[in-house]
Amino acid sequence: CRVVVLISGNGSNLQAIIDACQDKQHAEVVAVISNKPEAYGLIRAHHAQIDTSCVIAQKGEKRADYDERLAAIIDSYQPDLIVLAGFMRILSDGFVQRYLGRMLNIHPSLLPKFTGLDTHQRAIEAGETEHGASVHFVIPELDAGPVILQAKVPVYEDDTPELLAERVHEQEHAIYPLVVKWFANGRLAMKDGQAWLDGNAI
Ligand code: GRF
Repeated sequence: CRVVVLISGNGSNLQAIIDACQDKQHAEVVAVISNKPEAYGLIRAHHAQIDTSCVIAQKGEKRADYDERLAAIIDSYQPDLIVLAGFMRILSDGFVQRYLGRMLNIHPSLLPKFTGLDTHQRAIEAGETEHGASVHFVIPELDAGPVILQAKVPVYEDDTPELLAERVHEQEHAIYPLVVKWFANGRLAMKDGQAWLDGNAI
């Protein structure tokens, strides 16, 4: 299974996926694409001898035009799976449709709770006792695609967004590579707007 990973930043989830795919038995990260030239994840990719590209949005460029440029590079790698790993751009409907059922995202909350940004702070402010991360298929509506796997962490009374984020990140690094492997092994699908594992609706 050929995997293209899209990033904007540190790329710790990218690293977890690279590490998990090292044997290249089921899945191989064939390219890492960033919208930010300074993204540390690009350096991680270089270290792992993975192709990288940077697609920088031009001033005034329409979202659909940017997404076309991005898709052209993605498609040149003929991937089976697109993995969003901290890619901080909203994607146009056309782009999402093009990869429907073969594009994953990880979101730092227990979806459907806390879509959007600043999830850790918002979870603390809401008095949640549990928080976590969700891996889901990407659909045009933001953070609303069918959830495949979640990991939960406790929220402590004296928690800070930074400490909570760290706790969530650790879980992300466990669940994201696992879901990529499920997909690579043909165990995962999106059908009728739902996620399926081994033929069972999740
Ligand atoms: C993660 O918290 C992920 O849930 C969110 O962006 C962050 C990316 O972190 N979508 P990293 O770049 O993988 O370290």
